[in-house]
Amino acid sequence: MKAAILGFGTVGSGVWKVLKENQEQVKRYLGAPVEIAHVLDLRTFEGHPVQQVLTQNIEDIITDPEVEVVVECMGGLHPAYEFVHQALTEGKAVVTSNKALVAAYGADLMETACDHQTDFFFEASVCGGIPVLRTIRHSLAQEQILAVEGIFNGTTNFILSRMEQGLTYEAALAEAQAKGYAEADPTADVEGIDACRKLAIIASMLCGHAVRYEDIPTEGITKVTSEEVQQMRAVGKRIRLIARVTMENGTPVMKVGPEAIDAGHPLAQVKDVYNAVLIRGNMVGDIMLQGQGAGSEATASAIVSDVLNALNDRRRGIFEPACWTE
Ligand code: HSE
Repeated sequence: MKAAILGFGTVGSGVWKVLKENQEQVKRYLGAPVEIAHVLDLRTFEGHPVQQVLTQNIEDIITDPEVEVVVECMGGLHPAYEFVHQALTEGKAVVTSNKALVAAYGADLMETACDHQTDFFFEASVCGGIPVLRTIRHSLAQEQILAVEGIFNGTTNFILSRMEQGLTYEAALAEAQAKGYAEADPTADVEGIDACRKLAIIASMLCGHAVRYEDIPTEGITKVTSEEVQQMRAVGKRIRLIARVTMENGTPVMKVGPEAIDAGHPLAQVKDVYNAVLIRGNMVGDIMLQGQGAGSEATASAIVSDVLNALNDRRRGIFEPACWTE
């Protein structure tokens, strides 16, 4: 079974690592190994074994009939959209971690995937390694979901946690960037846009039609000062960037912004790059998932999970219907 990776940065190289180091687990699940046949990147990676499969030409991947699944980790909207669209049109399954792409073109790409009887999966686009989308879609398919809320951005949670320890905002952001948590342009993280896109993806899944992330009231953490963080700490509160959707008569009500919450609240215990997602179902009650929301290996783990599910679907001759439409 052959796969290709678009982009060999923090996430793409993580996918390589997970598929190599956990090949026994992969084989046990699929009954066969997954071979990385091509990696698309303009860089050369001297001395790295990826050199043997590197290409700078997307056509090498699209026209290879043996490639069944394409993993998109390039980020950005273009040319990611065109490459993903082309791969789906060729009937290949596509897995992405690119929330900007899913928030902007999710309905379009899922429709294209269905038209060509293949899968378009994006678990890693929301909260890194936490299996939140599959939990909502499959494990909680029987539930009326009343609300989903939590900490959806690792970079800002890392910065707020470090500020609690006395670091400046700038020093904490530099550390988050060095660890590979932040987006290429960290504005999307610190202004709340990254969390807002993830909330739009979840809300679209809950209501079955595309929710525009631009319509969600959003505030980031750039106005939160070290003094405020310390003042809140002194009165037993912690500042966290909270994203929330509540379903009211079938309509999603959404917001992203910093909130001061009691130190004893479960979300206040979530520190560093960890994310947490609280899902409220009408029958099951509250479920909380917690895990690393960013970083190479955690995000790559969620991608590989999608790769295995997509390959399993192909083997069984099935594909998933669209989660939402325009
Ligand atoms: N920049 C994102 C974050 C990466 O910090 O959460 C994962 O989506």
